[in-house]
Formats: sequence, C-alpha cells, structure tokens
Amino acid sequence: MKNQNLFNLLLPLNTEQLNYLNKLDSSCSNIQRAWLSGYFWKSANQISDSCTADTDRSNINNSLITIISASQTGNAKSLSQRLHEYLNKHNKKNRLINAIDYKFKKIQNEKILILIISTQGEGEPPEEAISLYKFIISKKAPNLKNLCYSIFSLGDKSYNFFCQAGKDFDKRFKELGATSLIDRFDADIEYEDAYNKWSENLLKSINNQNQHAQSFFTSSNKKNQSADLTDSFSRKNPAKAVVLANQKITGRNSIKDVYHIEIDINNLNIKYKPGDAVGIWYKNDPQLVNKIIKFCSIDSLDKVNIKNKIITIFDALTNHFELTNNTKDIVKNYVNITKNKILQNIISDEIHLEDYIANTPFIKMIHDYPEKMSSTQLLSFLRPLTPRLYSISSSQAETPNEIHITVGVIKKVISGCVYLGGSSGYLSQSLKVDDIVKIFIETNNNFRLPENPDIPIIMISSGTGIAPFRAFMQQRDNDCAKGKNWIFFGNPNFTEDFLYQIEWQQYINKGLITNMNVAWSRDQENKLYVQDKIQEHSKEIWSWIQEGAVIYICGNASNMAKDVEKTLLNIISKNGNMNLENSEEFLNDLRLNKRYKRDVY
Ligand SMILES: Cc1cc2nc3c(=O)[nH]c(=O)nc-3n(C[C@H](O)[C@H](O)[C@H](O)COP(=O)(O)OP(=O)(O)OC[C@H]3O[C@@H](n4cnc5c(N)ncnc54)[C@H](O)[C@@H]3O)c2cc1C
Ligand SMILES: Cc1cc2nc3c(=O)[nH]c(=O)nc-3n(C[C@H](O)[C@H](O)[C@H](O)COP(=O)(O)O)c2cc1C
Repeated sequence: MKNQNLFNLLLPLNTEQLNYLNKLDSSCSNIQRAWLSGYFWKSANQISDSCTADTDRSNINNSLITIISASQTGNAKSLSQRLHEYLNKHNKKNRLINAIDYKFKKIQNEKILILIISTQGEGEPPEEAISLYKFIISKKAPNLKNLCYSIFSLGDKSYNFFCQAGKDFDKRFKELGATSLIDRFDADIEYEDAYNKWSENLLKSINNQNQHAQSFFTSSNKKNQSADLTDSFSRKNPAKAVVLANQKITGRNSIKDVYHIEIDINNLNIKYKPGDAVGIWYKNDPQLVNKIIKFCSIDSLDKVNIKNKIITIFDALTNHFELTNNTKDIVKNYVNITKNKILQNIISDEIHLEDYIANTPFIKMIHDYPEKMSSTQLLSFLRPLTPRLYSISSSQAETPNEIHITVGVIKKVISGCVYLGGSSGYLSQSLKVDDIVKIFIETNNNFRLPENPDIPIIMISSGTGIAPFRAFMQQRDNDCAKGKNWIFFGNPNFTEDFLYQIEWQQYINKGLITNMNVAWSRDQENKLYVQDKIQEHSKEIWSWIQEGAVIYICGNASNMAKDVEKTLLNIISKNGNMNLENSEEFLNDLRLNKRYKRDVY
C-alpha cells in the first residue's frame, strides 16, 4: 500500500477484495487512479444521485416544464419555489430542480425550460450553476431548436455586470437555436413586482403553447430537496432572537476587526446544518440617520408611508433603507433633485462616476453637496434595506440552542473619516448582549459535509471564511467522524488574526484535525497567501484527492477563491499529467460529483 492513510480507508475490505484492489492499483496510471477514486466515491456516497438521474429522465418525458433554480443567497431559490407552486395551481405540470442537481447533458430533451438565476462575483453565475454554465457555453452544448425558454434574472444595479449571468444564458440559448417564450427580465434588488408581472406573462405564454404541447397535467411533485428545515421563520418573517455574546476576536493591533457573536435560539424551534448561513435584518446607525436628515434639512418627526404604515422618517431610514452603499443611480437621481454642477460633471462621464461611487459613501456625497428636500424626495432614490448573510460558525450538535457567527467589520477611511458597513457596523458597534436581533436561516445544500463521515475533507479559507469550517469541525467531532480533516487558513498576522486558535489546537491534539496550514500574509517581507501553502503541499493534496477527499473553499470571492482555484488546477495538471483543459475538466467533474464546493462572497 502507498501510505497509511490509504490503508486506513481500505480497512473495511476483506483479503480477497484487498488483493483485487492491489492488483488494479499496481496496473493503473495516476490519471486512472484519480478517475477510479471519483468512480468509487460516487457509487459510495451518491447512491441517491442515480435515483435522481432516473427520476430526472422520467420527469423530462412526463413533464413539459422544468424550472431551474440557480441561487446563491436564496432569492432565486424562493422565487423558483413560488413559480413551481404558481404553475401547479394553474394545472401546469412542472418540475423544480436546483442547478447543481440538473442533468444538463439531457437539456435538448426539454420542452419548456424556465431559468431563475442570480448573478454573483463579478458578473458570474451562482456557484451551483457553474457546471451548467460551462457546459452551455462550451462547444459540447447541443442544438436547442426544440426548446422554449424563459429567464428571470436577479441582480443588483450597483454592480458593474448587472444580471450578467442571466444575460449570458439568454444569449447562448438563442445561439443554440432555442426560442424565448417571453423576454428575459433583469430584476434589481426590489424584484417583487417585476416577478409577479413576469410570472403572469409567463403563464399566458405557456397557455399559448398549448397547441404545441399536447397537454399539461398537475404533477404530484416530490418536495424540492432544498426545502427549508425551518419553515416557521423566513426572510419575510424573521425570528427575534437574543444576543448571548459579542466579542472582538482579533488582536488590539490587528488591521481587521472581527467579532464572534452568539445568538440564543432557545424556544424558537430553529434548525440549521453546518454550511447554512443566517440572515440578519440590521438597523442603520442612528447617528448616520440624523446626519442624513440634517443634510437634507428634513424634520426627523416627519411622517412617511412605508408598506401602508405611517412612521417617522427617522424610523424609515433606520429600518427600511440602505444608507451605506452608494450607486450610480443614486448619484444620478440626487443630481436630478439638486442640479449640482460638480455632480452633473461627474455623472456625464461613466468612468469618473464609477470611481466617484467607489470612493464616496452616500453620506459623504450629501455632506459635500447638501440640499434641502422633502422626505418623499429622499426616499424616492434610496434602495430598500436588504438583509445580510453570515455563514454559521457553530453546529447544533455542539450548541443546540445557539447560532454563532464570525463577522468582519467593513471599514473605509476616506479623507480621515471612518465609514462602517451597514450590517457589520451594526453587529459590531451597536448590538449588545441581551439585545434582540432579527434573523432567519438561509439553507445552503451546496455546502454540506459529505454524508459518509469517513470521507476526508480539505477546507480552504481566508479571514471570516473560516466560519463554516468551525461548524464542520464541531459536527465531525460530535459525530466521532473518522474522515481526515485538513484546514488551510490565511489572515494578515499570526499574533493578531488567528481566529479560534485555541479551538483548532484542541482539535489537533484530539486528532480530529489531521493537517492545518496557515498563511500569515504580513508576517514576513514577501506576502504569503493560502494558495502558496496549498502549492507547497501539492503532492499530498493530490493524494487526498485520489482518496476521495471533498474540497471546500470559503471566503473572499474576488481574490482568494480565484487564486486558490488556479493553484488547484496547477496541482491537478502537474500531478495528473494533464494539460490545462483536462485539468479544468477534472475539477469540473469534482464539482459535479459534489467534491469541490465553494461558498464565496
Ligand atoms: C453566503 C454569504 C456568507 C457570508 N458570510 C460572511 C461571514 O461569515 N462573515 C462576514 O463577515 N461576512 C460574510 N458575508 C458578507 C456579509 O453578508 C456582508 O456582505 C458584509 O458584512 C458587508 O455588509 P455591510 O452591510 O457591513 O456593508 P455594506 O453597507 O453593504 O457596504 C459598505 C461599503 O463597503 C463595500 N463593501 C461591502 N463588502 C465589502 C468587502 N467585503 N470588501 C470591501 N468593500 C466592501 C460596499 O461596496 C460599500 O461601499 C457573507 C456573504 C454571503 C453572501
Ligand atoms: C458577493 C455578491 C456578488 C454579486 N455580484 C453581482 C453582480 O456582479 N451583478 C449583479 O447584477 N448582481 C450581483 N449580486 C447581487 C445578487 O445577484 C442579488 O443580490 C440577487 O438577488 C441574489 O440572488 P440569490 O439570493 O438567488 O443568489 C451579487 C451579490 C453578492 C452577494
């Protein structure tokens, strides 16, 4: 046997089986071994998958409408569920499937495909739709001339690549010969009315298709796999929970402020799993609200109508509107009201405007160019407040009545003034022990521990990306899981930023954490990152992959996750003797086999 780890995994085999395996092993190349590891892993861990495949096939034949939910933070998921119920109510047989479970190689068998998709990262599809996306844009994508489709695309106008994922799918479906049932809708963060209108139009259009499709039947659809464990509380109906602890866990000299927060969920009947996130409905800082009211010369007791309730402008700005994100539209609307010449100049040049919003919080803009206006005028260009998600850093196996989160404070210093993020500022500065916080669980079935506790896992993170891995380790500790655990963690300084250091040390002493590698970016002259540590252990990582390890990445989407992915491709290419294209295919296969999972933000 090659090493002790492999031997341990093989222990459940009898002598005859072991001999067979030894024989096979000695005759295989590295690539063949890697392929076999995936093959065996899949048959051991994903028996349910083959059931899905069968169901999938029969469903395509019996059901004329497929709804694909491609979501990262739950919005597209909840709209897909609503569409599923809406079509059922109108006797339109349909099946709802998450993008990650969708057998895209049979997409040409579809009749009507509805895609509800958000955009993530910088114009990218959500994690669960990446394999589908890669397939659709590839040369392997089939002709879709028999397909009718419709796309509801979710995004946020404050991002440069607004609704890009939906746009990309739409363009490609057309190129492949598919016919659009109704035009794609690109929805901003206030998508409720747009969705209602779009779904009504969609139904009408499906009705018009009746002559092509023989009949639609009401289906007895099985419950969507990703149905929430917690059905009593939701984004719209959050639970009111009490704060048990709120503590800064980075050192005094750290360049980062990270807080560990514990929330009491006793008596709330809330269930969550490691990998899930908690949604927080935050409140804006009262000082910030007062400044805005002052710069706009508004009376703080002025009354406004919000969702058919009459409340003060102070209350409205505190609880219902985003005040910490500036956008192009906000600046343009502000100019419409103020007619300010300097701002007019800025909005006339798109690049200048982009640079301006990146460096000018809303409060700074109205401080620099104050203007008297009515409450209604002010609210007309502000965006509704949206909850923020935080990966849960605890497991209910360890603390059944608590939710822990690990919050990094977003802090910008501009011209000597400090500007805090809306939610992270609230959680770190305002929220005290015994305060009430409004929360809901956002399930994430794409970021789960393997069902088989013997499977090794590799967890890669930087900063607060460590949060879900604390939950993973608590769960595996309580389950007495035998699978090996390897953590890679990166942050600026060892003495200031080693989040949960004592807990990791205890897990290492216990033997739960098998390997832990840390990268302190600023502890030496040259910057050192988590991907450098991964590269250093190239051979061992490859060997874990061959043993069937699941790889998880959590944390910063724009830098860390991209650099780590490049490094993983490099490791695959080098150790598996593959070119870049084959390495990408290999990694994509790991993704499809639920062995490469990312939760990045
Ligand atoms: C699935 C998921 C899980 C998450 N888990 C965690 C977690 O465990 N811990 C955690 O701390 N956060 C986590 N986040 C991020 C979190 O939801 C918020 O986005 C973050 O706290 C910033 O929100 P805010 O209201 O404080 O800042 P905002 O008020 O939204 O932003 C204020 C200003 O800072 C900018 N900004 C926002 N975020 C960043 C950033 N990361 N870097 C630089 N500038 C930024 C904005 O563009 C804006 O100009 C997660 C996000 C997702 C989607
Ligand atoms: C980390 C992150 C990156 C995002 N990037 C984009 C983007 O590039 N373009 C865009 O239009 N929206 C972007 N959004 C906004 C989301 O698409 C929007 O919030 C959407 O409603 C989320 O839907 P979901 O919950 O189904 O994922 C981003 C959101 C997050 C959290």
